[in-house]
Amino acid sequence: MTGEGRDREFDGNKVFEPGRIGPLDLKNRVIRTAAFEGMYPGGRPSSRLVEHHRQLAAGGIAMTTVSYCAVSSMGKTFGDQMVMSQDLLPDLRVVTKAVHDEGSACSIQLGHAGYFADKHAIGATPMGASRLFNTYGMALSRPMTESDINSVVADFGLAAELAAEAGFDAVEIHLGHGYLLSQFLSPYTNRRRDRWGGSLENRLRLPLAVVDEVRKRVGGRLAVIPKINMTDGFSGGLELDEALLVAATLEEHGVDALVLSGGFVSKTPFYMLRGKLPVKEMVATQKGWLRKTGLTLFGRILVQEYEYRDLFFLDMARRARHAVDLPLIYVGGVTSLSAMEQVMDEGFEFVALGRALIMEPDLVNKMERGELESVDCDHCNRCVAEMENNGIRCVTMDERRAAADV
Ligand SMILES: Cc1cc2nc3c(=O)[nH]c(=O)nc-3n(C[C@H](O)[C@H](O)[C@H](O)COP(=O)(O)O)c2cc1C
Repeated sequence: MTGEGRDREFDGNKVFEPGRIGPLDLKNRVIRTAAFEGMYPGGRPSSRLVEHHRQLAAGGIAMTTVSYCAVSSMGKTFGDQMVMSQDLLPDLRVVTKAVHDEGSACSIQLGHAGYFADKHAIGATPMGASRLFNTYGMALSRPMTESDINSVVADFGLAAELAAEAGFDAVEIHLGHGYLLSQFLSPYTNRRRDRWGGSLENRLRLPLAVVDEVRKRVGGRLAVIPKINMTDGFSGGLELDEALLVAATLEEHGVDALVLSGGFVSKTPFYMLRGKLPVKEMVATQKGWLRKTGLTLFGRILVQEYEYRDLFFLDMARRARHAVDLPLIYVGGVTSLSAMEQVMDEGFEFVALGRALIMEPDLVNKMERGELESVDCDHCNRCVAEMENNGIRCVTMDERRAAADV
C-alpha cells in the first residue's frame, strides 16, 4: 500500500499522542533532531552535554538525539568529537540515564565524514568514494579500497552494538548531508567504476551493507533510523527521484523509520538549515588563518544562502510519504504547534526539531499546557557557529536575557 491510500492510524492532532518506531514506544511525536552540540572536550561527553539533553528531555520531547558520533577516527569532522569506543560507555551511560530519568528516549547519530573529514582531526588523508578536492576542509581525499569499505561496515556495526550497551534506544545512521554514505549515494562524489559506483544499485551497496550490519547487531532491540537526503541541493548530486528509490529500498531492508532531510555539508551546508549566513560568527570561531581569511573574503560566495520558509522540506517530504509506508520523521522549519499538526495531518508519524528546541527546550511542555503556540526563532543560525565555540546555544535568547538583566 502506498502512503497516499494509507489507512491512517489517527486523525486530527496527534502531536501529543504516543507513537512507535520499531521496538521503541515514544510518549509523543516530537523528537529533537541531531544537532552537533560541540560539548565533547577531548572527544568525551561533558557534564554540559548531559545537562543539555536532560533539559531537553525534561522539556517534554519524546526522544532526543546525541549528535554526531564518528564510528571511527577517520570519520571525524571536528577535533573535539566522539569516536565510538568501549572506553566512552561509562560517560555515555550518564547521558542516557539522565534522559531516561526525565521520561524520554535517547538516540545517537552515528556517522562517518568520508572525504570531508577534518584532516587535522584525523591526522591522515581523508578517504571517500573517489579522489576529490574538498574546499570545505581544503584537502584532497583518497579513494577507498575494498578493505576500507569492509572496515567501515564493521565499524558501524560495532558502534551500534556499543550504543546499545550504553543504553541508547535508537541509532540514527547518517546517510545524508554529504557524509560518507551519502557520498557513495551521490553521483557527484561517487565516480567509481567498480561494484560500489555507477548505477543506483551500486551506489546503494555500501549504505545498505551498513544498514544490514547495524540491523544484524541491534535490530529488534534498538530502533534503526537512517537519516537520508531527499536531494543534495545542487545539480549533479542525488535528486529526489533517486532518493525515493533509496527510501523504498531502505524500507525493504527493514529499517524502522526514516528522517527526511537534504543538503551537502561540503557544497550546500545551509540548504538543510535555510535562513541567514552567520559569516562574522563563523570567522570568529575558525582556528586556522587560511580558513578565517577564506571565509572572510569568500564566505558568501563559497557558502550559498537559502531563504527560510516554514516547513521548507514539506513539498519533497510529501513525495516520500507517498513512496513508502514506514514511519517518517519530518524535519526542517518547524517552529509552531500548528506546523506540527499540519505535519501529522499530512501523514508523517513524527516531527523533529532543531533550532526551535535550541531556543526553547521546554517547548513541548509549554505547548501541551497551552502556554506557547510558536517560538520566534529568526534563523540567524548563530547557534551553528557556536558548535565550534563553547557549544550550541541560542545567541538571540541569551542576548534578550542579558538585555533584560541590564
Ligand atoms: C547547531 C546545529 C547543528 C547541527 N548538527 C547536525 C548534525 O550533527 N547532524 C545532522 O544530521 N544534522 C545537523 N543539523 C541539522 C538539523 O538536524 C536539522 O536538519 C536542521 O536544523 C533543520 O531543522 P530545524 O529547522 O528544525 O532547525 C544541525 C543543525 C543545527 C542548527
